Amino acid sequence: MESKGKNIITLISEIIERRGHESYLGEGLSMREHMLQTAFLAENEGGSDEEIAVALLHDIGHYTDEFPEDSLEKGQNNFHEDCGANILSGFFPETVVEAVRHHVEAKRYLCAVESGYFACLSEASVNSLNVQGGPMSEDEVGKFEKYACKKLSVKVRKWDDAAKVVGMSTPPFSHYVPVLERVLITREK
Ligand SMILES: [Fe+2]
Repeated sequence: MESKGKNIITLISEIIERRGHESYLGEGLSMREHMLQTAFLAENEGGSDEEIAVALLHDIGHYTDEFPEDSLEKGQNNFHEDCGANILSGFFPETVVEAVRHHVEAKRYLCAVESGYFACLSEASVNSLNVQGGPMSEDEVGKFEKYACKKLSVKVRKWDDAAKVVGMSTPPFSHYVPVLERVLITREK
């Protein structure tokens, strides 16, 4: 039986196939290369299925206009992390959805608490940090540390930051479909 969850994997796969060549926000590689590199780094470090799924899908919010109208309405503030979480919500577990939602916050968090982290950011990532609110304040750090998804979003953030290598070879998206299928919330319709 074709579940609703399987349909979203097919939809994501088609989008990455069709639009994955688009440039990754001022970096020297494509969106598809960046998404696959992030997943590959997670996989190489022995990441769990959920960690690999978040790594692969963390930037899916950049394609919000590809998803059905209700997702668009939910994600219309144009914050790609919120858009991505809203797209995945209902299909993937809450931990996955919330880690996607907080992957930008994780950058702001790490800039505030981890010395040396800022120096590892690419130029494009420093530019977007300024738009995204800069390093967290003490109050924001305190709030972020209480999130259940904190550990996962910080872990994925570091793979995200490292996944900007021009010319690195990775498995194709299809390699990760079984991982996504295992993480999906099973929905009988
Ligand atoms: Fe990213």
